[in-house]
Amino acid sequence: MVSSAFETVLLNVDRGVAHVLLDRPDKRNAFNVQMRDDLFQVLEAIRDDPEVRAVLISGAGEQAFCAGADLSEFGTAPSQAIARQGRWERDVWGLWASIHKPFVAAMHGYVLGSGVEMAMLCDLRIASEDAVFGLPEVGLGMIPAAGGTQTLPRILGVAPALDLLLTGRRIAAGEALDLGLVHRVVAKERLWETAGELAEQLAARDPQLMSAAKTAVSQGTDIPLEAGLALERRLALRLALRS
Ligand code: COA
Repeated sequence: MVSSAFETVLLNVDRGVAHVLLDRPDKRNAFNVQMRDDLFQVLEAIRDDPEVRAVLISGAGEQAFCAGADLSEFGTAPSQAIARQGRWERDVWGLWASIHKPFVAAMHGYVLGSGVEMAMLCDLRIASEDAVFGLPEVGLGMIPAAGGTQTLPRILGVAPALDLLLTGRRIAAGEALDLGLVHRVVAKERLWETAGELAEQLAARDPQLMSAAKTAVSQGTDIPLEAGLALERRLALRLALRS
C-alpha cells in the first residue's frame, strides 16, 4: 500500500484502488483553498499512476462527507471574488472531469454545496441512510462553481436540478435515490464496505475498457446521437484492434 498525507486529504493506494479521504473532520470536511491545492495534487497522482485503476472518495469523521465551501474564506479577506479567482486558477474540477478512471463516492452525513458537486464528478455514488444533500449557494449570495450547474442537469435532468439549485433545500438519502442523485443507499455501518467492494470490482476490470466506456458516455452526452454512435464505433474498433 502506498500512502500520501496532504494537509487536508489522505491518499492510500491499495490493490488498484486510490482511497481519497477528505480530512478536515473538525470543519465537516469543508472545502478550502488548501484542500483545492491538495486535491489537485492527488488527482494528478491518480491520473498519472498506472497502478490506480479505480478511485474511492469519502469524508473523515462521523458527521459529514463535505459541508461545502469553507465559508470562513468568503466575505473576509481575501474577498469572495479573490477566493473564487484562486479556485479557478487551478482547475481542479476540469482536471477531475478529464480523468477516465472510474470514481466512486461514499457519502455520509452532510453533503452540501461542493460536497454534492464533487460527488457529481464521480461515476457511482453510494450514500448512507443518514446522508443529507443540498446546494445552499444561492442563499449565500453565490452560485455553485464546482461544476454543479452543469453536472446536476446532465445527471438528474433539468427540472430536478433547478429545484435543488434554486431553492437550496436539503433532501434526505431516500429522495436523493429517487432523483437519481445517488445510485444506492445503505446502512451507515455498511457504507465503506459496500463502496470499497464496488471500487475493487471496478479496479479488477480491464482499465482500457473502463476508460473507453467512460469516454463514450461523457463525450457522447453533449453531441448529436449520430456523432455519439460514431464515437462509440471508433472506441469499440480501437479496443477490438488491440494486440
Ligand atoms: N465552512 C467552514 N466551516 C464549516 C463549514 C463550512 N462550510 N461547515 C462546518 N464548519 C465548521 C463550523 O464552523 C464548526 O467549526 P468550529 O468548531 O471551529 O466552530 C465546525 O465545522 C462544526 O460545525 P457545526 O455547525 O458546529 O456542526 P453541526 O454538525 O452542528 O452542523 C452543518 C453541520 C454542516 C449543518 C453546519 O456546520 C452548516 O450548516 N455548515 C455550513 C454549510 C454551508 O452552508 N456550506 C456552504 C456551501 S456553499
